[in-house]
Amino acid sequence: MRIGMVGSGYVGLVSGACFADFGHEVCCVDKDPAKIAALNRGEIPIFEPGLAELVAKNVREGRLTFTTDLSGAVAAAAAVFIAVGTPSRRGDGHADLSFVHQAAREIAAALAGYTVVVTKSTVPVGTGDEVERIIRETRPDADFAVVSNPEFLREGAAIADFKRPDRIVIGAEDARAAQLMTELYRPLYLNQAPLIVTSRRTAELTKYAANAFLATKITFINEIANLCEQVGANVQDVARGIGLDNRIGTKFLHAGPGYGGSCFPKDTLALIKTAQDYEAPVRIVETVAAVNDQRKRAMGRKVIAACGGTVRGETIAVLGLTFKPNTDDMREAPSIDVIRTLQDAGARIRAYDPEGMAAARAVLSEVEYARDPYDCARGAAALVIVTEWDMFRALDLARLKAALARPIVVDLRNIYRPDDMKRNGFAYVSIGRPKILPAPSLEASEPSRVEIEDTRALATTA
Ligand code: UDX
Repeated sequence: MRIGMVGSGYVGLVSGACFADFGHEVCCVDKDPAKIAALNRGEIPIFEPGLAELVAKNVREGRLTFTTDLSGAVAAAAAVFIAVGTPSRRGDGHADLSFVHQAAREIAAALAGYTVVVTKSTVPVGTGDEVERIIRETRPDADFAVVSNPEFLREGAAIADFKRPDRIVIGAEDARAAQLMTELYRPLYLNQAPLIVTSRRTAELTKYAANAFLATKITFINEIANLCEQVGANVQDVARGIGLDNRIGTKFLHAGPGYGGSCFPKDTLALIKTAQDYEAPVRIVETVAAVNDQRKRAMGRKVIAACGGTVRGETIAVLGLTFKPNTDDMREAPSIDVIRTLQDAGARIRAYDPEGMAAARAVLSEVEYARDPYDCARGAAALVIVTEWDMFRALDLARLKAALARPIVVDLRNIYRPDDMKRNGFAYVSIGRPKILPAPSLEASEPSRVEIEDTRALATTA
């Protein structure tokens, strides 16, 4: 089947490459000529494991092409996907649909023969109706249907998520369009991926509800982690203890510095706004968004507390800048708030990230970038782990300790074990687990103690 993919960003590029790999003929469109020229040279604008190879293979085999010519791609296609950005609108937090509406107008002008127009971008409830109206107004004679098909892939695991989804959701208002979509996803359908065919509005809302629920799960365990710190419990054991109940599930219960990324912050906000407009407020999600916002700066204060209450004039080493591992994406990354809080308190920052330093330079000022984790730790008063890249999980602890001015590690992702860190002579603070307090002088030669941090100190930092 021939597919036009309008928008060659994260979702468009990954979906386009995967559809091509299923055997469809895919033409990816983008307004940005530089991006299309780069893609045609085989250069991938984002860091996503396996994507470069998948694109190269399908281009070579003639199923995947890139163009700025939207009309040509649309006229040839049986299904046209809208996969353009839907950022938060400045000022009010609603999703900005101007790119979606513009795409709908341009697609309308180019339609030839029965075409299914699919919104793949995350769009508020009712956007499908609006896209349909725009197309009908632009081209009263067009033969088309508008379908919602939200995408649930995660950055860093995008290809596996697309090819082996937990489910496929299709929101269609007529049987012919639903049939075409089912045919499109047949390779997955045959693979037993459940396919839910529902109304367009239901599909649109399903995507927001999924992201809001996951954000809620993370925020819930983050607050339980705060409580664990106060009462001397271990959040990882609590997460496992509740997660093994099938009704809860073990995933998305990793306590950390708060969620970031291109989806959760933006989509929770958009859901909150839509729900308020319809006078059916989602108060739980409102609280989740507020709690998560506050948490990111609280993590900076946690570092300051671990350093004895001040970081003025000190260098703090930060490992991991991207909002999660295996991406170069800095959008809404907790590292930004952690670093700014530390800078506001007078600290100098030296940071290292395997893929995110170029993007970080555009967002953060006055940060020194290191060559590797040990170079980052050099002479620093403390080391903070903000993103759990695999390469940070097995650091040479003796080398790290030798590099640091003070052996303090604040692990905001719980990737080390407190007892290991104790054995290696670190003062170690993590999330929702017993702390290893430094010996009074912080000298490496003095034995450390594992104990629960003074609850009065915590109350001021959490
Ligand atoms: C998310 C959804 O998972 C995906 O289905 C949707 O299509 C887009 O949004 P993504 O933003 O790529 O994907 O990353 P995800 O792996 O979900 O992580 C989001 C944030 O939550 C990250 O900052 C991550 O560190 C954080 N997180 C995730 C936690 O803090 N704890 C967890 O247990 C899981």
